[in-house]
Amino acid sequence: MAKEIKTIGVLTSGGDAPGMNAAIRAVVRKGLARGVKVMGIHRGYHGLLNEEIVEMNSRSVSEIIQKGGTILGTARCNEFKELEGQQRGAEICRKYGIDGMIVIGGDGSYRGAQKLSHQGINTIGIPGTIDLDIASTEYTIGFDTAINTAMDAIDKIRDTSSSHERCSIIEVMGRHAGYIALWCGVANGAEDILIPEKYDYNEQEIINNIIANRKKGKKHHLIINAEGIGHSISMARRIEAATGIETRATILGHMQRGGRPTCKDRYYASMMGAYATDILIEGKTNRVIGVQKGEIVDIDIDQALAMSKSVSEYQFEVSRILGR
Ligand code: ADP
Ligand code: F6P
Repeated sequence: MAKEIKTIGVLTSGGDAPGMNAAIRAVVRKGLARGVKVMGIHRGYHGLLNEEIVEMNSRSVSEIIQKGGTILGTARCNEFKELEGQQRGAEICRKYGIDGMIVIGGDGSYRGAQKLSHQGINTIGIPGTIDLDIASTEYTIGFDTAINTAMDAIDKIRDTSSSHERCSIIEVMGRHAGYIALWCGVANGAEDILIPEKYDYNEQEIINNIIANRKKGKKHHLIINAEGIGHSISMARRIEAATGIETRATILGHMQRGGRPTCKDRYYASMMGAYATDILIEGKTNRVIGVQKGEIVDIDIDQALAMSKSVSEYQFEVSRILGR
């Protein structure tokens, strides 16, 4: 028989993402509606190990749905990667009567959730990362806000780039994944999109492309460069030297992680928070929530972590053709 869940915990972990607050709010209010006690753990696994644990009520999550960041705070915690840290985390859960935990974060946080469930604490993960790099889901909390923030910024750079007839390199976030670069590259009409999944380090091809576009009468040349490729400033210097066209680099950085979440981020975060709470209370463990074919589903964490995803050849090809 599944163990009875009387108290659940919720924490946010890894990089923050707009919409995490909507997920926390949904967990708290759905939990209370189902008659369980809800504990908020501050600063991710680090806060768990330091017992930064407070009981939450409906008012604790008032006025947060529209706010970026996470009211619980987040952290990275190497101690939790070790068995001793995981055992201590589970003991602390038991000390506070926490029978089940909801972890909102990326795939690193999922690994922590998997380990916590191995220690006997029922655990469910919710995908929260601006990078969209979790293979088991079509949607991750924060991606929609991040791409809209980046898209607006890139539109502004395009204005000045055209006025000055410059080449502009805009570096967007994504150390290991190029989804922000790909989506913004297409949405902003970039001439070149450099993503870790596909980049062949052929800078000469980019230079040739800039020269060819200038001959065609293009007034600007936008290059969206994912953080994983990096070196935007030195790349700008090399391109300017090779083409004779003034080139500027802008690194958008952490502005992409903040700000008011979009409607889509708030809606999906709310639905996934509620769904995670329901399956946790029903006794499920070692699961992660995802969106597949537009539906909210839950998947075994081990299976989810074994999955991989990448940018398709077709998407990449289209992104290249449309900017030429
Ligand atoms: P994200 O969740 O955004 O991918 P990280 O990869 O930084 O972010 O992971 C967040 C936290 O999850 C880490 O600081 C660590 O506490 C925990 N974590 C990551 N990997 C593991 C692991 N293999 N085992 C246990 N905990 C992990
Ligand atoms: O995972 C989200 C993300 O913003 C990545 O795109 C980026 O590489 C990383 O986090 C940056 O992390 P930090 O907060 O350590 O600068």
